[in-house]
Amino acid sequence: CVLVLCWFYIYPGYRLPRDKEIVEEVLRQGEAWEKNQTGVDLYRKLLTECCDPKKMFAVTKEFYHSHTVNKDTYPLFVKNNPLQLPLKKCAVVGNGGILQHSKCGRDIDQADFVMRCNLPPLSKDYVEDVGTTTHLVTANPSIIEKRFQNLLWSRKAFVDSMKVYGSSYIYMPAFSMKPGTDPSLRAYYALADTSSNLTMLFANPEFLRTVGKFWKGRGVHAKRLSTGLFLVSLALGLCEEVTAYGFWPFSVGLDEQPVSHHYYDNILPYKWFHAMPEEFVQLWHLHKSGTLRIRVGHCT
Ligand code: CDP
Repeated sequence: CVLVLCWFYIYPGYRLPRDKEIVEEVLRQGEAWEKNQTGVDLYRKLLTECCDPKKMFAVTKEFYHSHTVNKDTYPLFVKNNPLQLPLKKCAVVGNGGILQHSKCGRDIDQADFVMRCNLPPLSKDYVEDVGTTTHLVTANPSIIEKRFQNLLWSRKAFVDSMKVYGSSYIYMPAFSMKPGTDPSLRAYYALADTSSNLTMLFANPEFLRTVGKFWKGRGVHAKRLSTGLFLVSLALGLCEEVTAYGFWPFSVGLDEQPVSHHYYDNILPYKWFHAMPEEFVQLWHLHKSGTLRIRVGHCT
């Protein structure tokens, strides 16, 4: 392994490589990438052992005896895992500014299953870089509160803005923390009452917990794992091949020019909440071992 990242693995308490060092490391590696089936199988096995994504990723009616499922919530859950497994080529799309001018939209849309984070904008200004196809999109309850007034006023703006996600699954962590439950259930009913094409899937809190523990054991020390890393973990458990786009939590790009935090704005996350650079180092390790592919440059 290349020197900079080796430091990190050998001395987990050691400092993270600086942005510039990561840029140099990524440039040295270049676009070369080869799938390593042994690495893919190993990670699927590890994730299955720790977190059983196939069975556990969403709350289903099967979990009838858990505290989440009672007579009020039972009708809201899917019967069992609704995905046709195994999924073949999956694209996990993070929201990083590295996607700007990447022209990765067509690549992303060609995947068999496309996962996106946090109801991202997919308007025509972004299509060329991020595509439009979506099969699963996460929605944090805080987005419902902040962007849609907790759905206590009009629901129309919410229902209309969900149309860009076609007939995908909306994946919400409704039961991980108490304040998140009400906004999530409101979102569920807003869609159900308007016969929306979207299907709500509620993230299983136990799955979120075990995935967090899995990465903690691998040196990701954050208050909470980023949404993107959850989705990559899910994809590694469910898909035959995983490509990640929009993962670049650094302030400079490969051309050493400034990069905004998101492809649609430059609002930075609360500083100590996530450990995205640590997560990136892990993902880059998986990229180098051929377990998944990270696209950081242009797709043309
Ligand atoms: O809610 P959260 O802060 O986790 O995510 P976001 O800002 O909506 O972005 C979605 C995901 O993209 C993040 O969870 C990260 O995994 C990834 N991301 C990244 O790697 N680099 C960035 N500059 C921004 C996001």
